[in-house]
Amino acid sequence: MTEIKRIFTVNGKPFFPIGGQSCNSSGYNDKESETAFRIVKLLHGNTLEIPVYWDKVEPKEDTFDFTAVDALIASARHNEIKLILLWFATWKNGNMDYAPAWVKTNPQHFKRVIAPTGKDVWNLSSHCPANLEADKKAFTALCKHLKAVDGTEQTVIALQIENESGIIGSDRDYGPEAQAIYDSPVPAKLVSAMKKAGKGIIYDIWQKAGGKASGSWPQMFDWEAGELMTAWSIANYIDTIAEVAKAVYNIPMYDNVWLMEQAWWSMPGESYPSGGAVTKVLDIYKWFTPHLDVIAPDNYQLDTHNFKKVCAAYSREDNPLFMPETIGNQNMFHAIAEYNSIANFFFGLEFILAQDGSVRPECQSMVESMWCTAAIAPLLLKYQGTGRIYAVTQFDQLSSQTLELDGFTGLVELGDKRGLWAGTDWRHRRAGWLGRTAAPANPAYCLIIQAGKNEFYMVGANCRLYLRPKTTLAKMQRDLALSEGAARTFAYIVSVDEGHFDKNDQFIVDRTRNGDEIGHRGLWVEPDINVLRVITCD
Ligand code: DGJ
Repeated sequence: MTEIKRIFTVNGKPFFPIGGQSCNSSGYNDKESETAFRIVKLLHGNTLEIPVYWDKVEPKEDTFDFTAVDALIASARHNEIKLILLWFATWKNGNMDYAPAWVKTNPQHFKRVIAPTGKDVWNLSSHCPANLEADKKAFTALCKHLKAVDGTEQTVIALQIENESGIIGSDRDYGPEAQAIYDSPVPAKLVSAMKKAGKGIIYDIWQKAGGKASGSWPQMFDWEAGELMTAWSIANYIDTIAEVAKAVYNIPMYDNVWLMEQAWWSMPGESYPSGGAVTKVLDIYKWFTPHLDVIAPDNYQLDTHNFKKVCAAYSREDNPLFMPETIGNQNMFHAIAEYNSIANFFFGLEFILAQDGSVRPECQSMVESMWCTAAIAPLLLKYQGTGRIYAVTQFDQLSSQTLELDGFTGLVELGDKRGLWAGTDWRHRRAGWLGRTAAPANPAYCLIIQAGKNEFYMVGANCRLYLRPKTTLAKMQRDLALSEGAARTFAYIVSVDEGHFDKNDQFIVDRTRNGDEIGHRGLWVEPDINVLRVITCD
């Protein structure tokens, strides 16, 4: 049993957020955000991630305007959707695009990062106290406002501080203040954290550079010193903001990451923002951000193999897996089943719509995947961490997969390979009647939860589960005798029902299957059936 740190709660109860992130410019007013809210509903979701912009919140220094924030909260309440607000401020994708004009135009006071060339970079330096002060003040004002207008209702369930922090354009700040730090001894707290860990990527970099007991950043970390110092500095910067803001309004806060895995080469400041919480420096972030609830990777890896590598890196005992941005495909089922992810959002909600407002055909299966997750969410909260959730998806041409279940061996068949009678009932036929029309290439995926030895729940598309009881010598002899030589193949089925979970998380039967609809067609699922419940017996 794995203990899961559920960051998201509603009315004090664990909550499984389902939804997506709007496009960057959707948070300005009602008209811009309307589509995003509509799409969350279409996905059967419950949460929208949407930005709040420092330059709009504080257009003049010390003058705050929360009109747009209030509009978002009002729309969210109207739509019965929760919000995760994204604070676009000092950093947005490794630059300072969302800093207010009075910050952007005063580089003498609000210092920018200086590149090795001596030129400044479009990035506010984390080593400049004025930058930290200004951002902290604005974010704290936002939190104060949220507490006043939303402290009771709690429509906003979490805040992201910054967006993909770090520097694009340099590995570190080469300005005089940062240089002085670079040449000074690495803080004792970092050295003792490395010693205590005794392993990990940061520890290895330190050892490779000679494992000295003390020394300047380059003495301790060789060529990677600039990035590590920047990570330490930005982690402290964001954590300071979180600490002060949480004292004002204590709701979950996190930092998201532009991954180093995104490009095939790895160059801090070029292929990803240097100093962001990439896998290389994740330990530094975990040591220096005690006020953040989670470090959250933006996992845009397309294929299952690379997607899972990121999941593995960010799901640690001290960090539950939360992915605020993904590409939005069936990989999320692996994150849920194998890495206990507490939420997976996909980026760019509005992109799923065609000009006429319909769902683009290529996005339909992603929408359906979200339906499946939403339908089974109550069971995810209950069974994640128990080892009783299984994800099967059809990447890499997978056509079937066996599962070692409690008391049964399961076989999941994916896709339409059985042709004529490929699973399903008349409502869901993918191939034409008796195969007269070719079946479309629909992705196949499912999530199976074995709630008890004889109780299964399943959601998904285009796949079928078969169950065969595991046997013992006595059982085998009995079965062989009963069937006069042909061993019993499938589990004894008590009932197969399609249904949904009500507000009290009770399973409500909507349709019952038997006869042809179970038999040789297996236990099939399609997105619009909601949840399939199968009860077996010995
Ligand atoms: C990641 C960022 O966090 C988002 O705000 C957005 O810019 C996407 N990349 C890509 O458009």
